[in-house]
Amino acid sequence: MSTVTFRGVTKRYGATVALDALDLDVGEGEFVSLLGPSGSGKSTTLNLLAGLLDADAGSIMIGDREVSQLPPEKRDIAMVFQNYALYPHLTVFENIAFPLEARKPRPDAANIRTRVEKVAATLGIGNLLARYPKEISGGQQQRVALGRAMVRDPKVFLLDEPLSNLDARLRIRMRRDLKALHQALGSTIVYVTHDQSEAMTLSTRVAVFNLGKLQQYAPPAAIYGRPVNAFVANFVGEQETNFLDGTPVAEGGTLAFATAFGVISLGRPPATVTGSGKLRLGARPEAITALPDPSAEARIILAELAGADLFLTVRGRDAAEVVVRADPRADALAAGDGVRLAFDPQRMHLFDAESGVAVSHGGGPFVD
Ligand SMILES: Nc1ncnc2c1ncn2[C@@H]1O[C@H](COP(=O)(O)OP(=O)(O)OP(=O)(O)O)[C@@H](O)[C@H]1O
Ligand SMILES: [Mg+2]
Repeated sequence: MSTVTFRGVTKRYGATVALDALDLDVGEGEFVSLLGPSGSGKSTTLNLLAGLLDADAGSIMIGDREVSQLPPEKRDIAMVFQNYALYPHLTVFENIAFPLEARKPRPDAANIRTRVEKVAATLGIGNLLARYPKEISGGQQQRVALGRAMVRDPKVFLLDEPLSNLDARLRIRMRRDLKALHQALGSTIVYVTHDQSEAMTLSTRVAVFNLGKLQQYAPPAAIYGRPVNAFVANFVGEQETNFLDGTPVAEGGTLAFATAFGVISLGRPPATVTGSGKLRLGARPEAITALPDPSAEARIILAELAGADLFLTVRGRDAAEVVVRADPRADALAAGDGVRLAFDPQRMHLFDAESGVAVSHGGGPFVD
């Protein structure tokens, strides 16, 4: 069984709580990303699982085995780091074979050859086995590093920002390769990244961290569509979420929200608002449509073409601003134009303005 379980795991450095009472379950064969900004506790979590750090409290299990007291080599895991440091004086074959050569008792040469060749074929680097690291590309080196981890057939793979040294195009290609590899191997993977698009595209579930605390743990679609708080809503997504303060108003039996861009219908029955009572609306750029209207108060102050999308920064009353996604082929909009904004009620999020905790998503019920 290659499940991973954290229960109440805490790690402190003096007064800094690097990881605060983490509870996390990774299922057999899952690809789980630990996502969060710099210093949020991602590497700490991975290093605790690997046995490179000792926890101050809590327990960590791999399968049904408590591993907290075990040294790294007894945990049956393989780790690939950001700087995957291949041995420069060894060939690709020798680099991949290295963990097997180090094993006691050492497998026989034919056995090693069979396993290295199988792993290399899976990774599409079977033709590079005789080369040295400096004779292959960065992406190929990355695959050799993965091969070195795979050859041991570990229970769990731990990857800490393994693609961060690659250029943008190669990252996306390696991302696809990794996903295909995971589908082919069915192995359990715990993957650290601060890149939300990487986490969203690769993972079965994403664990979002901030300030040493797990914020939300859910499949990518739920993280994106039902963020538990304003931090998650803003951190996940290619573009930042727009936040608008306002006041709830009743509008013909349904709830609406009065903002600097007018009254936004939320298309749902009014309900008692708890918490601080102050609300903040969260709207992603794609949940807002800009309609040309020369008489409108709101104006486009910036139009940015990003390939397939046109991002418009629109300023409303009281200097409030939102970013709106438009279609550069269909919407002939430019800086200076007056626009009316249409907010899709199904994609509006309401947060408590003080705690940031989500109050409701779209037309759904209020969050418990
Ligand atoms: N050896 C250490 N001594 C003191 N503080 C540390 C040490 N290692 C980590 N920390 C602190 O613990 C917190 C979590 O660090 P961690 O390395 O887990 O962050 P991270 O999410 O991996 O960030 P990054 O994206 O920058 O790699 C940070 O506040 C960091 O400064
Ligand atoms: Mg880190």
